Amino acid sequence: MKQFLTVGDIGDLGKAIEEAKQVKATPFAWQELGRNKTIILVFFNSSLRTRLSSQVAAQNLGMHAIVLNIDKDSWKLETEMGVVMDGDKTEHLREAIPVIGSYCDIIGVRSFARYESREFDYQETILKQFIEYSGRPVISLESATRHPCQAFADLLTIEEHKTVARPKVVMTWAPHPKALPQAVPNSFAEWMKAAPDVDFVLTCPEGYDLAPDIMEGVTLERDQKKALEGADFVYAKNWASYEHYGQILSKDRSWTVDAEHMSWTNNAKFMHCLPVRRNMIVSDEVIDGPNSLVIPEAANRVFSIQTVMKRMLEDLSRGK
Ligand code: CP
Repeated sequence: MKQFLTVGDIGDLGKAIEEAKQVKATPFAWQELGRNKTIILVFFNSSLRTRLSSQVAAQNLGMHAIVLNIDKDSWKLETEMGVVMDGDKTEHLREAIPVIGSYCDIIGVRSFARYESREFDYQETILKQFIEYSGRPVISLESATRHPCQAFADLLTIEEHKTVARPKVVMTWAPHPKALPQAVPNSFAEWMKAAPDVDFVLTCPEGYDLAPDIMEGVTLERDQKKALEGADFVYAKNWASYEHYGQILSKDRSWTVDAEHMSWTNNAKFMHCLPVRRNMIVSDEVIDGPNSLVIPEAANRVFSIQTVMKRMLEDLSRGK
């Protein structure tokens, strides 16, 4: 595995979930794979779960992990090509990336959408430079448009907690005071579409449809109540508009998932990637209730990324 950016990079999802379950059952069984290997985790943005789960996963595999916080631990980096560097940026990504690559065996990168330009974000400009110039396998730790480690952990959580063979999984937009990226909902939708045994429904207000390629094949129900009826899993998330790129079109609190919303479901489990704004996205009662999976979902972040790291290390050990 040379890169982990989208659902297409993981191959057969059934096999990936079985492997993740095996990794979870015996997390230290592959300690030799990571011996004398190093992963550098590059963060352009803040993180709690991704940062810690990546380090724990690397440690479980016997691998050394180094975290680099861009603009905090390192020089300020220029990302645009062809510019005269007479401002506050000391180093260009064009040099920084191959230098980072020369110190490690695998690279993880977190680089969020900037919401300055849809083209810049959806071309995955930063991530592509890491793939092109590092000479190392690259794991997306959340890019401008995808969060595959999160979606993999989400699917693992659904597989572990489902009580019917083919659960109805509803992703609902919910309000938030800030413009959030589309990476999590894009990946969640992609992974749910690819999962063999899931009925996936998306509900969001007008103006919040995701990118056309993500929406393709998705059942969209504009009426949130109708969407939630019979749901086995409710996945709440905010994102800013794709159509009116990066804009907040609504803060309608009637979309906040509370006990009444959950009463419309089939005693559904509640999911959210975290961090979450309480009583904006979800009521205290729901997130603290017995059907909330937010903590086991976050715990599974270790095993999704560990499965990806394991596959990359196996390929490296085979000289691929
Ligand atoms: N869900 C998630 O990626 O959390 P962090 O932003 O804290 O890493």
